[in-house]
Amino acid sequence: MKILVIGSGGREHALVWKIAQSPRVSAIFCAPGNAGIESLARCVPLAADDIAGLKAFALSEKIDLTVVGPEGALALGIADEFRKAKLRIFGPTRGAAQIEASKSFAKDLMVRARIPTAASRTFEDVTQALAYLERHPLPVVVKADGLAQGKGVVVATTTAQAREAVTDMLGNQSFGAAGRRVVIEEFLDGEEVTIMAFTDGKAVVPMVAAQDHKRVGDGDTGPNTGGMGAYAPAPLATPALRSMVLQQVFRPVVEALLQVGSPFYGVLYAGLMIVCGQPYVLEFNARFGDPETQVVLPLLKTDLVEVMEAVVEHRLDQLDVEWHDRTAVCVVLTSAGYPGPYQTGQPIAGSALPSSSQETMVFHAGTKRQGSEIVTAGGRVLGVTGIGSRLVEARERAYRAVRAISFEGCHFRTDIANRALGPAPERG
Ligand code: AMP
Ligand code: GLY
Repeated sequence: MKILVIGSGGREHALVWKIAQSPRVSAIFCAPGNAGIESLARCVPLAADDIAGLKAFALSEKIDLTVVGPEGALALGIADEFRKAKLRIFGPTRGAAQIEASKSFAKDLMVRARIPTAASRTFEDVTQALAYLERHPLPVVVKADGLAQGKGVVVATTTAQAREAVTDMLGNQSFGAAGRRVVIEEFLDGEEVTIMAFTDGKAVVPMVAAQDHKRVGDGDTGPNTGGMGAYAPAPLATPALRSMVLQQVFRPVVEALLQVGSPFYGVLYAGLMIVCGQPYVLEFNARFGDPETQVVLPLLKTDLVEVMEAVVEHRLDQLDVEWHDRTAVCVVLTSAGYPGPYQTGQPIAGSALPSSSQETMVFHAGTKRQGSEIVTAGGRVLGVTGIGSRLVEARERAYRAVRAISFEGCHFRTDIANRALGPAPERG
């Protein structure tokens, strides 16, 4: 089989790395890819949202299966276009991807399907939204309706902050079309966990649970980022909790999408807040998480391509998806200044980049090749995953590899997985 992976981040490197292990695969292409992906796939200089270009490429190369990483291409309808051209694609249609691309769509669906989530109201009118805030208890959460690269959520502890967020989004249109509508919702106080699931529109196969670290600094301080690290399985997701999430979240949402005529084919990501043992949905994403993928896929025992084929052929119920009884920790290395402005083009010394092994994988995100060097080319630069039989071992392996890598301005959190484990012992 010839496979095309769309995207250029750490998630896509992990996808390519896992797909490359499949005996069914004869060639892998990645558009546009990065310097790490180059060693496993042929990188094609096409942007992830160049749907016409990607379709023409898939047709001319006779690609057997296309796998979509980022949400932007899904929200633009890449899956609809590919299916029209009789090209097999792993990812939801534009209609189903609304579950991520419109928070108000997701909220309406959850309310109708009685899926536990924070109580909320949606507004398009700034005066009405501001009036609603006056009566709302604090803290309160203000969310831009559309795709905002993880930056469209404000957890406001004062009414002034909430007013500013609403005025910014609805009044000043600081998020463009994504902020034409806002969702104002109650604050949920609990522990966050991510559970992703494969679904073919009917059957649902949840993956091992992961915990992301969204804030840039140690101890969950500083601004939100795309994700500074993750670990899996998250001990918070006990078998009882996983079963609740399957029954109360995944089964009803998949059924509700089928009912509205937008069956979901691909990976459905549930961002959950666990409050007193009860899961509430904070958000759905229509794709694999980043960096969750970098800890979840190394634990998948079943051939990923086999799972993806079962999804596109709507026979997921016939497949037994198995997991390794191991653990994974991923630490993300970023450019100085991220998630604000940052410099690129810093050399990452080739010899300082450890090669991947059974126990550590170095997934590239924002990197590119420049002559004989690999240089930084994004905010999140690398994701280093350590694997071990226990989390403490996986964490030790990840950080050992991280400390061997250096580039100018390199930043990483030193407390990934501490929530599950407590602090790591001091190093002498
Ligand atoms: P979202 O993109 O909707 O997942 O929101 C980003 C982050 O904001 C989440 O990971 C939470 O940390 C926080 N958040 C979102 N909604 C709520 C809520 N209703 N209560 C508390 N925190 C929230
Ligand atoms: N790690 C969060 C996301 O992928 O949206």
